[in-house]
Amino acid sequence: MRGREGGRPASARARGREKRPARPPTPTLSFPSHETGHYFAIDIGGTNFRVVYVSLDDSPGGVAAVEMRDTPIPDAAYICPAAGLFDMMARGLLDFGRDIGVLGEGEQPPTVGFCFSFPCDQTALDAGVLLKLTKRFQNEGAVGTDPVEQLRAAFARAGEPAAKVVALLNDSVGTLAGGRYTDPAVELGVILGTGTNAAYVETATSVPKLDAAAANSLRGGRVVVNTEWGGFADDSLPTLDADRELDAATPHAGEQLMEKQMSGMYLGEVARRLLVSLASSGVLFSGRVPKRLAEPGCVTTAHVARCDGDRSLALAATAAVLADALGATTTSYLDRRLVRRVCHLVALRSARLFATAVAALLRQIGRDASSGPPVAAAVDGGVFEHYALYRGYATAALVELLGRSAASRVRLNRVRDASSRGAAFLAAAADHAAQHAGAAPAPARELVAV
Ligand code: GLC
Repeated sequence: MRGREGGRPASARARGREKRPARPPTPTLSFPSHETGHYFAIDIGGTNFRVVYVSLDDSPGGVAAVEMRDTPIPDAAYICPAAGLFDMMARGLLDFGRDIGVLGEGEQPPTVGFCFSFPCDQTALDAGVLLKLTKRFQNEGAVGTDPVEQLRAAFARAGEPAAKVVALLNDSVGTLAGGRYTDPAVELGVILGTGTNAAYVETATSVPKLDAAAANSLRGGRVVVNTEWGGFADDSLPTLDADRELDAATPHAGEQLMEKQMSGMYLGEVARRLLVSLASSGVLFSGRVPKRLAEPGCVTTAHVARCDGDRSLALAATAAVLADALGATTTSYLDRRLVRRVCHLVALRSARLFATAVAALLRQIGRDASSGPPVAAAVDGGVFEHYALYRGYATAALVELLGRSAASRVRLNRVRDASSRGAAFLAAAADHAAQHAGAAPAPARELVAV
């Protein structure tokens, strides 16, 4: 897939790469195998902010306990100065740890894996530079800083300066690590929720960012690449007026163009804009645009899923959505059929892009053939989890792209909470590596560089 990453044209990126000095060897760690201990994770980047506590033991599977707390991100947190956002996270974790009785008087300070789901230039396992914010986030003072340093400072402000933040990772990487923990065939970690992204396991020598010495120094010779595929854009990606208008109205116009056609934050809004244009041109609702339809955000991805899945004779579920979301209580059957069709096409386009991007990554790693062992993608995120018909659309598109036999070797594993658990597992692996620095490495499933 050719494309644009981070909003920069490919040619600019290539020029940037030429000028960039060779990087020091990339930090490495093992995929978690059999670490033990108590670890926390903070997971932020969608509509909820999550804190996780994981206790690992040496039983088969290794997970003795997992506790989580999800908190909807308040509107103000998307736009406040960066320190406020990080304070919310540090305080949220400390309150949670105290509430479940594992932090506080006489307890060890927390060891934390930080799943921060934005494009970062990762310079060490526990350090990076935020390149840009995406989705709804617009916090001043975040871009260009190290999210780990910001979080450490927030822990200090919250009275816990000894908190250890040992790993920084993207949710796609956490999903890959978490998904692979239970299924060794997993080569791709994919997010399809508020945003979309994927990480995959690559041969180190194929990564231009790593110089030869760094690539060859990696045990196992493999690295994890965070593709940031939501940021791809290309002239071959057809766009509609609705896409262009939607993009112009977002906080990060011109960025994340594939994400804006694929992910949960946008599918409802694409559908709404298409319905407005059909109503204004007289094809829908006898040309009367329901008042509420003009309000951005009134059609959600959940509405799209309900209409698309409506198999009732009179399209009753679609009627209910139109009444609830738009206050349109007297719709004709033809109106409802057209609304359902629009919703279907919006979701189908997303699923076909999803399948195309998965197929492209499988091709890149040589796992798109009709023979060989099966390969799996661990997929996390609300759209994949809750949109009942989505998986079928994606699977059909994979068959179309790869052929029946190759597609039958590809498993799309629906995983839940993998990025948060993965963050805690990577914190365990990083902590283990730090404590045993210089000792013979523990047997590991795979070597990863992030
Ligand atoms: C956005 C972010 C990316 C993240 C994805 C899913 O695309 O840029 O880093 O992985 O959303 O949360």
